[in-house]
Amino acid sequence: MNIGIIGLGSIGQMLVAAFCKSAAVAPGQLVVFNRTREKAERLQADYPVSIAESAQEVCQQAEIVFVCTKPLDILPLLRELSIPAGTHVVSVAAGVSIADLERVHTGAVSKVIPTVTSQVLRGVSLYTCSQRLTLQQREAFLSLLSAISVAQEVSEREIETVTILTSSAPGLIAGMLESFAQAAVRRTPELSIELARSMLVETMLGTALLLQKEQLGFDQLIERVATKGGITEEGLRVLDKTLPRGFDELFAMTESKHGALKQMIQQQTSPQ
Ligand SMILES: NC(=O)c1ccc[n+]([C@@H]2O[C@H](COP(=O)([O-])OP(=O)(O)OC[C@H]3O[C@@H](n4cnc5c(N)ncnc54)[C@H](OP(=O)(O)O)[C@@H]3O)[C@@H](O)[C@H]2O)c1
Repeated sequence: MNIGIIGLGSIGQMLVAAFCKSAAVAPGQLVVFNRTREKAERLQADYPVSIAESAQEVCQQAEIVFVCTKPLDILPLLRELSIPAGTHVVSVAAGVSIADLERVHTGAVSKVIPTVTSQVLRGVSLYTCSQRLTLQQREAFLSLLSAISVAQEVSEREIETVTILTSSAPGLIAGMLESFAQAAVRRTPELSIELARSMLVETMLGTALLLQKEQLGFDQLIERVATKGGITEEGLRVLDKTLPRGFDELFAMTESKHGALKQMIQQQTSPQ
């Protein structure tokens, strides 16, 4: 089966790398197209993918096509194409719904919210599919997503909130860790920021493995570290005062950003 990727920015390139690393797909099965051809050529130096001459050619050659352009570019691009009915079109864009995709393609459509952590074959890919998928299309699609991540089906009602936990989270976690490291260096200027950052990365990795491999709940891990009357308990008390409000604000802001994006996409779909 050929897999098409249109748009080779951060996510398109990540998908190529992840599919190849996972060995779920041979590079020769990947047909790619990017508006700026040099990007595709640079990628080809690492992964011997086929470069198509156009997005249309990708749709002709691939059974499943991941469209990895910016959200506002997805529908105008798909409208320009003549996509074979048997091609499964997968959008990775925030704000573009299954109904929007069904209006521009008569065949199977799905929506995936990938995560950059799939580059190392970890993390969660969120997905939702149209009713139009055949059993075979669904199985092929799921086996691709499962090769590079944990594939989690979500409803369109949930997807915006869950996106923050899976797809935005690597950036948010990096932001939190940077803030954590900077605060440590402000407190103890002798400590180098590089050392603070690398210790946090190792600690985060260890924490994740402990939670996952020993199947600990967050509360159990907290209990192990924050002994009664100890130093960590005091730190947690401070976090409890500030974090819940901060996270509520974060979800409120990202929800409103999603809302604004969906409104712009709706304007693209409503008749002129
Ligand atoms: N970044 C993330 O972590 C993340 C996570 C989940 C979902 N997403 C979604 O992934 C999508 C892409 O995000 P990104 O961060 O990868 O964006 P990006 O880095 O800006 O990449 C977009 C790519 O699409 C190409 N492109 C634009 N119009 C095209 C066309 N008509 N035909 C072919 N290629 C075209 C651009 O080509 P040029 O080289 O010419 O600019 C660029 O390489 C977005 O819809 C976003 O919502 C991103």
